[in-house]
Amino acid sequence: MQVKKKLVSESALENQVYQVFPGDLNPNNTLFGGHVMALMDSVAYTIATMHSGNVCVTACVDHINFIKPARLGDKILISGSVNRSWKTSLEVGIKVCKQNIKGGEIEQILKAYLVFVAIDQDGMPVEVPELVSQSEEEHKRFMSAELRREKRNSRRKRD
Ligand SMILES: CC(C)(COP(=O)(O)OP(=O)(O)OC[C@H]1O[C@@H](n2cnc3c(N)ncnc32)[C@H](O)[C@@H]1OP(=O)(O)O)[C@@H](O)C(=O)NCCC(=O)NCCS
Repeated sequence: MQVKKKLVSESALENQVYQVFPGDLNPNNTLFGGHVMALMDSVAYTIATMHSGNVCVTACVDHINFIKPARLGDKILISGSVNRSWKTSLEVGIKVCKQNIKGGEIEQILKAYLVFVAIDQDGMPVEVPELVSQSEEEHKRFMSAELRREKRNSRRKRD
């Protein structure tokens, strides 16, 4: 039986570590943006499936901001959690940070919001558990996710 409600903490992931190798770089010798996006999507996907209990597909990635570059040998730390769920979709917020090889300051390099839709074996959207926000921070994210959904929906209607 599908669980009806889940806490943010039941699927949140903190500081998933990846190290920048030579094959991850662009011609500017910084971490290739497409590679960071794949890492981010993969962590966000794991969070979405832990919350939904089903296979999910990425429906939309928005508000993706590359803040700073990462370099060879940097440690990449990826954290994220579900901000809100609706009927069959949910929004995951992702933060990506870097730390140099000497263990220096941890700096944010990217943030993004991804929407996933849970699907059944026929690829049809299925219901996801309601998200229970507990802390003030979780509640703020819960509220702002609804505003982003409204903007996304009006953008989709326009396109
Ligand atoms: C995502 C997908 C399953 C939605 O199917 P659909 O028939 O359009 O579904 P519906 O219109 O019934 O919408 C289902 C949910 O998806 C949401 N949704 C659909 N497209 C969306 C988009 N572009 N952005 C945000 N949410 C979207 C709807 O808001 C709805 O959410 P709700 O049930 O929580 O209110 C379908 O568009 C798809 O398979 N897309 C390709 C996904 C993919 O290949 N991703 C990359 C690899 S993982």
